Amino acid sequence: MHVGIATDHGGFGLKEDLVAQLRATGHDVVDFGADELSPDDDYPDFVVPLAQAVAAGTIERGVAVCGSGVGASICANKVPGIRAALIHDHFSAGQGVEDDHMNIICIGGRTVGPSVAWDLVQTFLAAEFSHAPRHLRRLSKVAALELQPTRTQ
Ligand code: RB5
Repeated sequence: MHVGIATDHGGFGLKEDLVAQLRATGHDVVDFGADELSPDDDYPDFVVPLAQAVAAGTIERGVAVCGSGVGASICANKVPGIRAALIHDHFSAGQGVEDDHMNIICIGGRTVGPSVAWDLVQTFLAAEFSHAPRHLRRLSKVAALELQPTRTQ
């Protein structure tokens, strides 16, 4: 699969590990950085370009890492067309794609070990959206939010 990955300093080591494992298992990986461990870097500088590539369809699915995965998930979801989620468990890594059409998995480099992270990524990439009518209905309601101006009451 054509996979993109991005991190700040908080997930740098995990990102390097995942890139190596993805390439070793035959995936075509685009590394959006960071290219070096720099404690002053900012996750949006890497995660937003990844999210934009996923939204544009030039990357099929994305892996976004930061220290906790929280910042990565918040900023990825600001990009229209992105359905990103912070994932810690095997069940959600698969069901998030099957039911919710998750297209970016977010992982905490300081909260999830490399073996669990690799299981989450493999499960995410192996899963397919079900296209079940109830999930399409729910996702159309989510997508409609991107077309509405923000209401303040
Ligand atoms: C960076 O130190 C850290 O705040 C960041 O990687 C992430 O955890 C934010 O959610």
